[in-house]
Amino acid sequence: TQTPVKIAVTGAAGQICYSLLFRIASGSLLGDTPIELRLLEITPALKALEGVVMELDDCAFGNLVNIEIGDDPKKVFDGVNAAFLVGAMPRKAGMERSDLLTKNGAIFTAQGKALNDVAADDVRVLVTGNPANTNALIAATNAVDIPNDHFASLTRLDHNRAKTQLARKTGKTVNDVRHMTIWGNHSSTQYPDVFHAEVAGQKAADLVDEAWIKDDFIPTVAKRGAAIIDARGASSAASAANATVECMRDWMGTTPEGDWVSMAIPSDGSYGVPEGLFYSFPVTITDGKVEIVQGLEIDDFSRTMMDASAKELTGERDAVKELGLI
Ligand code: NAI
Repeated sequence: TQTPVKIAVTGAAGQICYSLLFRIASGSLLGDTPIELRLLEITPALKALEGVVMELDDCAFGNLVNIEIGDDPKKVFDGVNAAFLVGAMPRKAGMERSDLLTKNGAIFTAQGKALNDVAADDVRVLVTGNPANTNALIAATNAVDIPNDHFASLTRLDHNRAKTQLARKTGKTVNDVRHMTIWGNHSSTQYPDVFHAEVAGQKAADLVDEAWIKDDFIPTVAKRGAAIIDARGASSAASAANATVECMRDWMGTTPEGDWVSMAIPSDGSYGVPEGLFYSFPVTITDGKVEIVQGLEIDDFSRTMMDASAKELTGERDAVKELGLI
């Protein structure tokens, strides 16, 4: 029998995980491969997590070999090949940015250190919990022996949102959309870039006008999270789970021939983005190896948008440095 792939998930009793765990367990991540789930929560949420585990049991998923739960990252992360860091401290009304960074800093320094000590050598760590890019930076920096490129943060949801908006506008399907790119931070400064995108083989920029791109498309994608909270009374969870599973699935495998995906990875200085920032780039992945798509032409508008998001991330990095978190 095959040794199961060990998959850690944090924030396992939360909203996103109520969808994510079932997607992973049913095979959306690794297909017909035996897996073991290692689920981390804070102590007060362990009882709720036991309920989620009961439901996972009741699905009788054929490839879900074992489930371990706990509140100690050093135990839960032991030997894991993949880690989904979903649990984070949400921003509450009246909370200062430094409070938010400090609270999340405590979570992601501890989890980075624990991964460093006990995870498998091939571990891939995907951060969904916000502020995702900077949380990834904190975890990666604190995992001193794990190469930084084993860490990434999620902008796939933004990528998927952008594909749907462009498909709708052009009267095509998402299957017709290729080469979508999200640059930068998973925040309102992100830059969804249609200038390299194609719809059914045509340049997207020839099919839509500039006013739509600037006044409709970009703000709709960047503010979609808020629109969902407004409509649903709760934040996007199922679509975030879907993006999370798709991102890791591609990262552990190969992106489709002739297309690329967006993913926030440590910058190597490509496109003038300061080195080391977790910045979303267009990437291709071949057998688990990630490469930034090179040679895209960047016009003045795109440059300004990309720089603004890099500036925000540099500010976040400076703030967590000042707090001694990295
Ligand atoms: P939620 O509040 O329903 O669940 C979060 C869970 O994390 C809670 O059960 C909490 O107990 C747990 N948690 C807190 N600290 C923890 C720790 N130290 N270790 C383990 N677990 C811990 O939130 P939801 O809706 O599941 O969202 C999770 C995160 O994902 C949030 O930060 C949210 O902002 C972010 N998010 C990111 C998106 C992206 O595209 N990158 C999209 C949507 C949400």
